Amino acid sequence: MALIRDLTDDEARAALVNKWGDTEPGVIPAWVAEMDYAVAEPITAAVIAAVERGEVSYPLYLRSGGALGAAYARFAERHYGEQVDPERVLPTADVTFGVRTALDVLSDPGPMVLPLPAYDPQHGLAQITHREQWDLPVDPDGASYVVDLDALDALFAKGARTLLLTQPHNPAGHVHTRAELEGIRDVVTRHGGRVISDEIHGALVLPGAEHVPYLSIEGAADHAVAVVAASKAFNIPGLKCAQIVTGDDATRDVLRDIPMAQNESWGSLGVVGTIAAYEQGDAWLAALIERLDQQRSLLRQLLAEQLPDARMRPLEATYLAWVDLRAYGHDDPSTVLRRGGVRVSPGHGYWPGLTGHVRLNIATSPDRLTEIVRRMAAALT
Ligand SMILES: Cc1ncc(COP(=O)(O)O)c(C=O)c1O
Repeated sequence: MALIRDLTDDEARAALVNKWGDTEPGVIPAWVAEMDYAVAEPITAAVIAAVERGEVSYPLYLRSGGALGAAYARFAERHYGEQVDPERVLPTADVTFGVRTALDVLSDPGPMVLPLPAYDPQHGLAQITHREQWDLPVDPDGASYVVDLDALDALFAKGARTLLLTQPHNPAGHVHTRAELEGIRDVVTRHGGRVISDEIHGALVLPGAEHVPYLSIEGAADHAVAVVAASKAFNIPGLKCAQIVTGDDATRDVLRDIPMAQNESWGSLGVVGTIAAYEQGDAWLAALIERLDQQRSLLRQLLAEQLPDARMRPLEATYLAWVDLRAYGHDDPSTVLRRGGVRVSPGHGYWPGLTGHVRLNIATSPDRLTEIVRRMAAALT
C-alpha cells in the first residue's frame, strides 16, 4: 500500500477542521499549511495506544532531554548529519510559542529584524514581547531569495538585537546555503546580536537542496537557538509539541530555569506523536518528499501552460508556493481566486502592503492541484 494516502474530500473535512472545515463547500482549500494526506500509521498507532492506556495526563515535565530530546537528536543526525546533544533539547507547546519564549527570555529588549515576506503569525511576535519589529524586505523581483547582508548590517548597527530567521523559508520556499548562513552569522556576531532560527520546515527540503541547521555552522552555539517540530513534516500540528534546540549549556540553563508558567503547555499526546514521528517516520517522510517533488513539477507544468505570466522562484523546500500574480492585474488575487473556487493565503498577510502575491499549498492530490490551477487560470484570465 502506498505510504502517502490522499484524503477524500469528506475525510479531509473531518480531519482538517480548520483548513477544510472553515472553507465554504465547493471551494478547494489551498491555504493554511496542512497536507491533504492521512497521518503516518506509526504516529496514529502510537497516539491511539497512548489514549487507550489513559496517557492523556500531564506530560512528564522534564524541562530538557529525555526521550523527546534523544529522539530529536537521532532524527537530526540521520537527516541533517547534525550532532545535537539530547540534553540541550527543550520541549515547548509549538514553534510560534517557542520563538516567543526564546525572544522573551534570551534576547535583549531591542528591535527584532524580520525578513519579508514572513509567516503571518511572526508579525505579532515583536509587539507581544514588547519590542519593535524592523522589516528587512527581500526583493520580490530578484531572481533568487537573498537576504541583503548590508541592509541587515545597517539594522544591527542602528540597534537591532535579534534576527528572526526562517529556514527553510515559508513562504519563499528557499533553503539557505551554508555560505548564506555564515554571512548572516558574521553580521549578527559583529554586533553581539542573537538569531532565533525557525526550522519547522527543515525536514521538508526537496531534492536538489540540503537543510543546514543554523546551529551546525561554526560559532553559532552561543548566540542562536533553533525551534523545530515534527508538526509540519508529519501533519500533526494539533498535537502541540515543539522543541527549542540550544547549542550550549548556558543557553539551555537559562531556558530550563524559567518559571513553569512561562513554558508549560506542551501535551502528552504531542510528545508521544512526536517521538513516533522522529523514531518511526523515516519511510513515510521519504515517500512524502517524493510526492511533494512530483507536485512541484506538476505545478510548474500547469502554471507554464495555464498561467504563463505567473512568476515563482524555484520551490526548494516546503509545499507552500509563493506565486507572484502581479501580471494579472489584481491587488489581492486571493479574493478573485476564492470567488473562482480556490482558497489561497493572501500575500499581504506575509508582507503588509505587497500586492499581487499569494501562497498556494500544493500538498494535495495531483487531481486537486490540476483543478486548482484550472480554476485559478479561469478566475484570473
Ligand atoms: C515558519 C513557520 N513557523 C511556525 C509555524 C507554526 O508552527 P506551530 O503550529 O508549531 O506554531 C509555521 C506553520 O506553518 C511556519 O510555517
